[in-house]
Amino acid sequence: GAAELGPYRHYMQKEIFEQPRAIGDTLQGVESVTPELFGDGAYRIFKDVDSVLILACGTSYYSGCTAKYWLEAIAKIPTQVEIASEYRYRESVPNPKTLVVTISQSGETADTLAALKHARSLGMENTLTVCNVSTSAMVRECKLAYITRAGVEIGVASTKAFTTQLAGLFLLTLSLAQVRGKLTETQEAQHLKDMRHLPTALQAVLALEPQVISWAEDFANKENALFLGRGMHYPIALEGALKLKEISYIHAEAYPAGELKHGPLALVTSEMPVVTVAPNDALLEKLKSNMQEVRARGGLLYVLADADSKIESSEGVHVIRMPEHYGTLSPLLHVVPLQLLAYHTALARGTDVDKPRNLAKSVTVE
Ligand code: G6P
Repeated sequence: GAAELGPYRHYMQKEIFEQPRAIGDTLQGVESVTPELFGDGAYRIFKDVDSVLILACGTSYYSGCTAKYWLEAIAKIPTQVEIASEYRYRESVPNPKTLVVTISQSGETADTLAALKHARSLGMENTLTVCNVSTSAMVRECKLAYITRAGVEIGVASTKAFTTQLAGLFLLTLSLAQVRGKLTETQEAQHLKDMRHLPTALQAVLALEPQVISWAEDFANKENALFLGRGMHYPIALEGALKLKEISYIHAEAYPAGELKHGPLALVTSEMPVVTVAPNDALLEKLKSNMQEVRARGGLLYVLADADSKIESSEGVHVIRMPEHYGTLSPLLHVVPLQLLAYHTALARGTDVDKPRNLAKSVTVE
């Protein structure tokens, strides 16, 4: 009821603003990186596996897509991410030495549970879940688990569950890296320090809300939007597009920026806002030239730029500068303005933010 909402108008907005607390809780008690964070017997399993197969649906699938970049870059372990409903019905090549990782807010999504059972039926017994509900079927069915502490999520569009999943998946990356001899003590200490700083960093990103509201005023009367990202921010672009679709009913698509010229550039006009997730990483220069391609066709750019990047607002280019540069954990921060953009755009369009049409919080039947 209204009392629980406090100063917020919707659960989604409240849940977006709860993220510093949710991440803090999810990381509580994590003193060091160790496989034991995932349960008894994790060391033996982590030592034994030679690859990772992530299975999930919806927003949880996008946290898996982000984790693939971490797992391959930091833990040096080959990783596949697959939509659960696809995996369960296709013929695939099973590998008993794979770590099967399911990701689920509810722990009850029918397709994800069925995909897990399918993997097991193919002889893959090393199972782990990153899940927000400790009493769920998913946690019961998997050997290992990391329970995220987002708390109950009511808004159908997932927000705090996503960022806490990323926190759990980053810990999984570090633990696998450690067991595989890919993590020095200095690196471990630095990663833990960066993780502990996340609640403060998230708070600073949430303070950008007024700037995001001014973007949302432009988006409210559009019917299409394009989201571009590169590398580990491509899944963040996908999640930003999904959020906008789900609650504002604006058609949104995400593309890896390098694919722009292979199709979506044909759609760009002054009626098509293009959101660019542009952290100051090795791919920034390439992204800048993708942005020029959009501007040259009259497209309007909405750029999430890092604190120290040199992109400035100009005619047709709207820049929101992130408070700090965050390196590997940057996806957790960049998704927040995109959540707020979807929320405020939906608010301006007067849609039912917490209960979007045709969607359910948890899809427990196929
Ligand atoms: C539904 C929800 C999404 C969620 C997805 C997967 O589509 O509306 O927000 O991401 O299910 O749910 P899960 O509980 O498995 O994460």
